[in-house]
Amino acid sequence: MTEISDLKAGLIADIAAANTLDAVEALRVGALGKSGVVTGLLKTLGGMSPDERLAKGPPIQDLREGVAAAIAERKATLEQAALDARLASEKIDMTLPADLGPQGSVHPVSQVMDELAEIFADLGFSVATGPEIEDDWHNFTALNIPETHPARAMHDTFYFPDVNDAAQKMLLRTHTSPVQIRTMMTQEPPIRIIAPGRVYRSDSDATHTPMFHQIEGLVIDKGITLGHLKWTLETFLKAFFEREDIVLRLRPSYFPFTEPSVEVDVGYTLTNGQRVIGGDGDAKGGGWLEVLGSGMVNRKVIEACGLDPDEWQGFAFGTGVDRLAMLKYGMNDLRAFFDGDLRWLKHYGFSALDVPTLSGGVGA
Ligand code: DAH
Repeated sequence: MTEISDLKAGLIADIAAANTLDAVEALRVGALGKSGVVTGLLKTLGGMSPDERLAKGPPIQDLREGVAAAIAERKATLEQAALDARLASEKIDMTLPADLGPQGSVHPVSQVMDELAEIFADLGFSVATGPEIEDDWHNFTALNIPETHPARAMHDTFYFPDVNDAAQKMLLRTHTSPVQIRTMMTQEPPIRIIAPGRVYRSDSDATHTPMFHQIEGLVIDKGITLGHLKWTLETFLKAFFEREDIVLRLRPSYFPFTEPSVEVDVGYTLTNGQRVIGGDGDAKGGGWLEVLGSGMVNRKVIEACGLDPDEWQGFAFGTGVDRLAMLKYGMNDLRAFFDGDLRWLKHYGFSALDVPTLSGGVGA
């Protein structure tokens, strides 16, 4: 009996003396873990006679409860101390005079959008925009996305309430593709545009945020072929990743608004044990990363915009701007993009004076 109370006193003294969460955890494992001392004692109960168990059971149970309570209490104290220390170190005094001058930097998403605008301006593309609050027709129907397409399911799309006319149903655009429709309906071809902007989907984890950024490309002209698409994407990705050895892999795919559709992968290779974009993805240690969806604009889409598909053809592409930024600048958690943490922005942000230019290197 005294053995058990000695053991309890010893363990509780050790727990009270533990100065870190790791030390508390080590004590917990040593006492209550699978092969801990207290667990060992509890296991002996099964082999005892009823009388013996009646005598020894309560002190052993008391030991277990006492130790568990001491651990929980010590853990809570240390966690609170860690939180207090963190709050103290991250405190900002908003009443201090602003004598440091502006501390801002250009967010990687803005930087990449500027880089893309610069690259495509050089290829003769202008920048088009459209509303983030869209109607169902522009976001889906005109893009040949039938009523049954999964993109229309409520779990993907943020719809606005109180609508009666289906074509006028309002939503937060789920992609930048409706800007294709708006452009074809208001501009005379030939058309060469890119459309960067925010898009929204009801989705959230380490690689998905409810709001993210896409960029759309659209070319409408006479006699446009898949060859023009491939050259354009190759030229764009070489300029964007600032490497001549970019290798593309075009895989057949399906998008309702393009026919045929292709998904575009870019090759990466292993350089000093690091995955680096560039080179043949089939090389040893290399691989392919999907970077774009694209294809030849579906005749039905051209028709929906009031153009004659026998006269006008084109290609389109779309990609995630946040993803491009992550690939180029080596960030791995998308959520950090939208935290507004000054330390992150200081590290990953760009100087407002470093305007991307093709001659200076777009990412400089
Ligand atoms: N809108 C598509 C999406 O959000 C991306 C896309 C694919 C855009 C193919 C295109 C395209 O213009 O041709 O997933």
